[in-house]
Amino acid sequence: MNIHANVLNTTAADSFLDNIRKDVLKITGDALKDSSIHSIASCYATQDPATKRMLTAAITYAEESLQKYNVLIEGPSGTGKELVARILSHKRKPLKAMNMAGLTDTLFQSELFGYMPGAFTGAKSRGDVGFLRAVGKGTAFLDEIGELPLAHQAKLLRVLQDKTVLPVGAVDPVPIQCRFVFATNRDLLKMVKEGSFREDLYFRINELGLKTFSLKDRGVQEIRCVASAIIAEENWTPIGEREHFSDETFTFGNVRALRNLLLKRELGEIELPEYDKENEL
Ligand SMILES: Nc1ncnc2c1ncn2[C@@H]1O[C@H](COP(=O)(O)OP(=O)(O)OP(=O)(O)O)[C@@H](O)[C@H]1O
Ligand SMILES: [Mg+2]
Repeated sequence: MNIHANVLNTTAADSFLDNIRKDVLKITGDALKDSSIHSIASCYATQDPATKRMLTAAITYAEESLQKYNVLIEGPSGTGKELVARILSHKRKPLKAMNMAGLTDTLFQSELFGYMPGAFTGAKSRGDVGFLRAVGKGTAFLDEIGELPLAHQAKLLRVLQDKTVLPVGAVDPVPIQCRFVFATNRDLLKMVKEGSFREDLYFRINELGLKTFSLKDRGVQEIRCVASAIIAEENWTPIGEREHFSDETFTFGNVRALRNLLLKRELGEIELPEYDKENEL
C-alpha cells in the first residue's frame, strides 16, 4: 500500500467521523447524569477547562451506544492516559491492558489472537484463547500503539474490521466482543505522513479521540492542583502558599515526575523555592 498517496484522501473518513459526531451529540446529556462514573473521573485532578472537556468527552464515550467505536488516547508520557482508559471502561469491565512495544511477530499473534493445541514448540497443550478473547465483553486497552510494526498493523486492522481473530494454527476465525481503547505518546499523524503508521489503521483506531496534555502546557495552577491531589492521596505535608513550582524544580511536565519531586520534598531531600511572582511559570 502506498501510504503517502492516501494521506490527503480523507473524504470518506470525514463523513464516517461526521456520523460518529452525531451519535456523540445524542447521548451527551444522559451520560453526564451518571454519578458513579463521575467518581472515577474525579481521580483525575484538574482545574484546566480543556482537560475538563476531555474528561466530559471520556464519560460520554463510555456510554453503551458509543461502545462500538474505538477510542485513541494521545498524550505525553505520564499524563494520565491510563486513568482516562479507566473512565472509558467503566461500563465495559474488565479493563485489560497490553503493551504493543517490543512484540515479535510470533508473540504478537499468539498473545493477542491465541493459538491451537500444539501450534508451535513450547505451546500449552490445550492451546490459549489469547488476550482479545480473554477480555470477553470488557475493554481491551492496547497501549503504546505507535510502537506496533507495520506488518502487525495490517493484521490488527483486519481484526478491527472483521471483529474476529484467527488463532495461530486455526483454520476458522473466532469472533471477539471486546471494546477497543488505544493509547500512544507518539504523533501518529506525523507517523502516517512519514509512512511508518498506516493511514487506514489510524482512522480505524481514532474513531473517537481524546488528548491528555503535559502539566507544563496547562500552567502553574494546574501543577498546584495535581500536586495537591497527590499530597492528599499520600497524606503528605500540604503545599504552603509561598512554595513555588519553578522551571528548575519542575522540568518534565508529567505526573510521575511531579510525584517523585513531592516525595523528595516530603523526605526533606529538597525544598521548593519561595514564591516569586517574576519567576512564576
Ligand atoms: N491529572 C491527574 N491527577 C491525578 N493523578 C494523575 C493525573 N494524571 C496522571 N496521574 C497519575 O500519574 C501516574 C501516571 O499516569 P498514567 O499511567 O495514567 O500515565 P500515562 O499517560 O498512561 O503514561 P505513559 O505514557 O508513561 O504510559 C498514575 O499514577 C496516575 O494515577
Ligand atoms: Mg500508560
